[in-house]
Amino acid sequence: MADLFSHLLLSLLLSFTLLLTLLPPALSQISTTEVSVLMTIKASLDPQDLYLSSWSPNATDPCDGSFEGVACNEHGRVANISLQGKGLTGQIPPEIGRLNSLSGLYLHFNQLNGVVPKAIANLSELSDLYLNVNNLTGDIPPEIGNMSNLQVLQLCYNKLSGSIPTQLGSLKKLDVLALQYNRLTGAIPASLGDLGMLTRLDLSFNNLFGSIPVKLADPPMLEVLDIRNNTLSGNVPPGLKRLNEGFQYANNPDLCGVGFSPLKVCTADDNLNPNKPEPFGPGSNGLAKKDIPESVNFRSNCTQTNCSNQSKTSKIAVIFGAIGVIAVLTVTGLFIFSWYRRRKQKIGSAFDISDGRLST
Ligand SMILES: *[C@@H]1O[C@H](CO)[C@@H](O)[C@H](O)[C@H]1NC(C)=O
Ligand SMILES: *[C@@H]1O[C@H](CO)[C@@H](O)[C@H](O)[C@H]1NC(C)=O
Ligand SMILES: *[C@@H]1O[C@H](CO)[C@@H](O)[C@H](O)[C@H]1NC(C)=O
Ligand SMILES: *[C@@H]1O[C@H](CO)[C@@H](O)[C@H](O)[C@H]1NC(C)=O
Ligand SMILES: *[C@@H]1O[C@H](CO)[C@@H](O)[C@H](O)[C@H]1NC(C)=O
Ligand SMILES: *[C@@H]1O[C@H](CO)[C@@H](O)[C@H](O)[C@H]1NC(C)=O
Ligand SMILES: *[C@@H]1O[C@H](CO)[C@@H](O)[C@H](O)[C@H]1NC(C)=O
Ligand SMILES: *[C@@H]1O[C@H](CO)[C@@H](O)[C@H](O)[C@H]1NC(C)=O
Repeated sequence: MADLFSHLLLSLLLSFTLLLTLLPPALSQISTTEVSVLMTIKASLDPQDLYLSSWSPNATDPCDGSFEGVACNEHGRVANISLQGKGLTGQIPPEIGRLNSLSGLYLHFNQLNGVVPKAIANLSELSDLYLNVNNLTGDIPPEIGNMSNLQVLQLCYNKLSGSIPTQLGSLKKLDVLALQYNRLTGAIPASLGDLGMLTRLDLSFNNLFGSIPVKLADPPMLEVLDIRNNTLSGNVPPGLKRLNEGFQYANNPDLCGVGFSPLKVCTADDNLNPNKPEPFGPGSNGLAKKDIPESVNFRSNCTQTNCSNQSKTSKIAVIFGAIGVIAVLTVTGLFIFSWYRRRKQKIGSAFDISDGRLST
């Protein structure tokens, strides 16, 4: 009987010891991984280590407020990176795609160059992506169409080229799509008319051509559609009249339509040959300068240091509490175990035969 009890105690003890050695690493593992990912990101965004010196490779927890611009969620995972206007001159690394709890990425007003990595589409929790006012080149990755939680996509004031991916039409929650002041070419994808939550669509100051898809008037909440300074042509969908002043279409010399002054009324020629590419026409009335940054509405401006302090302390309390309980249990267990061992040995030496029989 005593033997059985001591076996039980021993196994309890073993499992506690196991827990003690396994538990803390499991909890801090995530932080350690995220620190190393953040260090890779830092090396790329800030190659000369001029602006992100607070991101230290020796840190154990990126959520303790020591990492400038990093805020964590209640699970201790990196949720926001806010480094707008920090003077960053590097590139956005694909490793950003490994911070899979990221909900906001604010890198606007820097001098980042290189491309928008397609791995960014791995961030399925991301709702706000602000990469505007940088020096980004290359295409808009079609993979962005997979980011089902995206609400604000700000890519304006860069040097992005290629066409607007039709896949962007899959972004069911998209509220703001700002692509103005890039070098985008091609047609406006009709799929953008599927964006049921869209309120603002800015495509102005690009090199888009072709006609305006009739479907573009569909999004029920649309308030602003800006297509100024492109080379769009053909009939303006009458449905866009409901936007009133929210619809801006100046400097597209080949547009036509009824009720959109000063556009000419469409002729048979406009409908037959809607995609006539042309350089910017003469007699333009320089709109450009006066309406420069139509202030991209920055919805977030989190002052880092405070974002996660509270959840952080409660997390520490829970961990220390658990360690304390385990330690007390272990010590008690050890004590009881050795006491039973001593008792068993005494009894065992007295009844050698019965003990041997019992243990078989
Ligand atoms: C990190 O730790 C190493 C060795 O422990 C030390 O040499 C180095 O200066 C530390 N770096 C920072 C940024 O604190
Ligand atoms: C954040 O907000 C503060 C005050 O509201 C403002 O001074 C600062 O410029 C903002 N930062 C960014 C990058 O928007
Ligand atoms: C995408 O996320 C998964 C986990 O969700 C991760 O294993 C993978 O490395 C990520 N891929 C990239 C390219 O970052
Ligand atoms: C953007 O890049 C070009 C060269 O590619 C450089 O001349 C220019 O200064 C950069 N602009 C900014 C704002 O960094
Ligand atoms: C993401 O998008 C690309 C291109 O649009 C597509 O080929 C791919 O299957 C998508 N991946 C996932 C995981 O949805
Ligand atoms: C906008 O279009 C007008 C007329 O074609 C042109 O004069 C002006 O330079 C354009 N602005 C930009 C920034 O392309
Ligand atoms: C991340 O930023 C968003 C937008 O500012 C904010 O609502 C959210 O609370 C932030 N999350 C954390 C964990 O700081
Ligand atoms: C942090 O938040 C507290 C209130 O929650 C405020 O009193 C304090 O000034 C904040 N500190 C910083 C650095 O923002």
